[in-house]
Amino acid sequence: KMIGKICGTGSYLPDYIIDNFKLAESVDTSDEWIQERTGIRQRHIAKKETTSYMASMAALKALENAGTEPEEIDMILVATSSSETVYPCTACEVQKMTGAVNAVGYDVNAACSGFVIAFHTAQAYIHSGICRTVLVIGAERMSRMVDWSDRGTCILFGDGAGAVVVKAEEKGYCHMAAHSDGTKGEALVGSTKSFLKMNGQEVFKFAVRKVPELILELTGEAGIRPEEIDHIVLHQANQRIIEAVARRLNLKDSKFPVNLDKYANTSAASIPVLLDEMNRMKILKQGQSMLLAGFGAGLTWAGCLFEW
Ligand code: ACO
Repeated sequence: KMIGKICGTGSYLPDYIIDNFKLAESVDTSDEWIQERTGIRQRHIAKKETTSYMASMAALKALENAGTEPEEIDMILVATSSSETVYPCTACEVQKMTGAVNAVGYDVNAACSGFVIAFHTAQAYIHSGICRTVLVIGAERMSRMVDWSDRGTCILFGDGAGAVVVKAEEKGYCHMAAHSDGTKGEALVGSTKSFLKMNGQEVFKFAVRKVPELILELTGEAGIRPEEIDHIVLHQANQRIIEAVARRLNLKDSKFPVNLDKYANTSAASIPVLLDEMNRMKILKQGQSMLLAGFGAGLTWAGCLFEW
């Protein structure tokens, strides 16, 4: 059975930055409150960039990083819940902008778990032999979804995109687990007709309970202990969620890379953006074990454990 290996990463963040002080000029909040409750200092916001533009820019960088020609791509999967159009889907827009003429493209909507679930999908196509080279992207323009007068939500989100090139290889492993609980969907609702609505505490409690379970499920399947994993890359929603997960599993914070201070919660983009940063900082060494875990609206939670 073939395994999909990440062989290149890329990301795109809009230039325009809104820091907490700037936000405090328009809603009743403060830098201190936001940093203490979330760890966020600033967020990048798309002024004119569309979701598909950000996705395409991230994709082009990932292709360059992988040394892969656009024509080699068999499939484009874009995890997003904030595309400008329902159709054409963002993946087809990415195909147009990157020249990946041999690919089929479609979007995956599983909110903040979307990138991990799209990565699972790529693995399934590669395992089955249907595809050899898949571009997996997480791209979000969350600034369109939030009510900028609601201090409970507008402080949390940012825009951006991250991409990985996944290629079929004979060696390696990838353990996967994914879950949804549709009965809890009301905790976090986004739609094109009204602003995002969230029960922050419910989402917080859900994440802190389910993410450690997910990590244990994956390590159990792999037959290793959580402390043996080199990098645990969680969806970047809130510093306190990440710290609580580390504490529950009795793991060092240093296993959990963080960049949400700079970008806030970019939903499906957060994991690939962080992977790209780690890759370019040369933190990732071949053969290291990597666990990715996403969680969010649906409710959904999904993870995978593989070799870098
Ligand atoms: N600035 C100042 N005060 C605020 C702000 C703000 N931006 N927002 C809320 N408050 C006030 C509230 O009104 C409340 O005041 P009150 O006590 O007078 O009623 C007080 O601060 C405490 O509010 P809580 O909601 O209890 O604050 P909490 O500690 O739970 O933090 C937060 C809120 C940051 C939203 C937290 O619940 C959280 O991070 N939840 C998880 C959210 C999340 O990660 N969502 C995304 C995951 S899924 C996805 O990515 C799509």
